[in-house]
Amino acid sequence: MLPASSGAVAIRAARRADLDPVIALDARVTGLEKRAYWERIFRRYGQAARGEQRWFLVAVAGGEVVGFVIGEVRDWEFGSPPCGWLFVIDIDPRVRQAGIGTRLLSALCDAMRGAGVRTLRTLLAHDNTLILSFFRSQGMMAAKMIPLEMDIA
Ligand SMILES: CC(C)(COP(=O)(O)OP(=O)(O)OC[C@H]1O[C@@H](n2cnc3c(N)ncnc32)[C@H](O)[C@@H]1OP(=O)(O)O)[C@@H](O)C(=O)NCCC(=O)NCCS
Repeated sequence: MLPASSGAVAIRAARRADLDPVIALDARVTGLEKRAYWERIFRRYGQAARGEQRWFLVAVAGGEVVGFVIGEVRDWEFGSPPCGWLFVIDIDPRVRQAGIGTRLLSALCDAMRGAGVRTLRTLLAHDNTLILSFFRSQGMMAAKMIPLEMDIA
């Protein structure tokens, strides 16, 4: 693999052949392999028709997938005007802190801006300080929203 800092990192739309490395990267990061889940995600985000405002982007270095980001525009959900949501971003631990997460996020923002969206939102676990540091470094601030949950078992 080329060092990510060499600048030889390409960002492009995910293809079916990227699914195996994405599944492997997710399994490495989360400790769980979820093939059926990723197949569904690829059908929804990787094969979205133009104009559907869904993006599944990968970062490729030295011919290998080293990171990905997934997001979409949601219209009028939670009572808010159309806005971009980022669902997941993951960078291969071997090439972190080399600007790849920043490039993926920036590519997603460009695509969303092109779709006319002016706000990007995401949700994160309150104790995930790594992802919080990353999002804060990119300009993300606490939103005027409160996530709620309850036990319905
Ligand atoms: C968070 C993550 C996406 C960052 O990707 P990355 O390619 O390493 O990020 P970048 O190199 O673009 O870093 C940008 C900034 O983020 C912050 N940052 C990145 N890694 C950091 C770390 N380990 N500690 C503190 N801040 C960090 C820094 O402010 C950094 O800017 P700097 O290099 O000028 O200090 C990556 O670490 C990752 O995939 N982590 C696991 C993500 C996860 O939990 N995903 C599931 C939920 S979405």
